[in-house]
Amino acid sequence: MTIEVVKMHPALGAEIRGVDLSKPLDAQTAAEIRRAFDENIVVVARGQTLDEQQQLRAAEIFGKVAYRRRPVAGPGPGGDFDTPFMLVTNIVENGKPIGAFGDGEMWFHHDTSYYPEPHRATLLYAMKLTSWGGETCFSNMYMAYEMIPRALRDRLEGRRVLQMHDYKRRERLNLDTADLTRIRHNWQPLFVTHPATGRKALYVSRLMSAQIEGLSREESEDALEQLFDISEDPSIVYEHNWALGDMVIWDNWCSIHARKDFPREEPRLMRRLTIEGQALQF
Ligand SMILES: [Fe+2]
Repeated sequence: MTIEVVKMHPALGAEIRGVDLSKPLDAQTAAEIRRAFDENIVVVARGQTLDEQQQLRAAEIFGKVAYRRRPVAGPGPGGDFDTPFMLVTNIVENGKPIGAFGDGEMWFHHDTSYYPEPHRATLLYAMKLTSWGGETCFSNMYMAYEMIPRALRDRLEGRRVLQMHDYKRRERLNLDTADLTRIRHNWQPLFVTHPATGRKALYVSRLMSAQIEGLSREESEDALEQLFDISEDPSIVYEHNWALGDMVIWDNWCSIHARKDFPREEPRLMRRLTIEGQALQF
């Protein structure tokens, strides 16, 4: 099978056509999809009909599928643990959310940047959509790195950034009041070298990046604000308008993503898998 790769935005994002992920793929097709993925950061296969097993098999094209882990302590997202699947949904049954990250807008972030080994990729499959909203915006962090003013980049080169997450969706953590024993966190290189492509990428996000190592709080906040603005520059953002059956896979080491608001009274359901990662280097 030969796939067709159609770019959706100058910065990132491509549709892969001629692929039916419900069927086992031959090695050549899988290799073509991986190449399109490395080149385009976000790939979309439209009109897919996938049960759990088929989505799992499709995910294996990109690596080893990760299992969901429980939060260290305190509140975590709903849904089951010790399974590879997470339901990203606002659906509530018998008073209990059946999944995680229910309603509304969610700020730009990398998935699991607060783990020692952040996930390689995330796969999101659209099963129920609202009448409007809920678009996912993806931003190219290779380009963001190139856009950092030279003087700032030189000052920050070789530093680490504290990444943390308490499952809030549109609010930065307050370092003065946050109890780090109860919140997942990890120091990461501020600029990472992508293990697969060897390219440098900015590794911050407005939702999860708390502080830059070796700077005063004020200097750190000032630098982070500049980096957040660069990372969200509209010129490097592709906005995905979901259709049912869309299977979207993103490279979680060189992109951040955000979700736009949608009507909370309407059900939205996405089935999510992640691919195991590795420690990120400068
Ligand atoms: Fe996410």
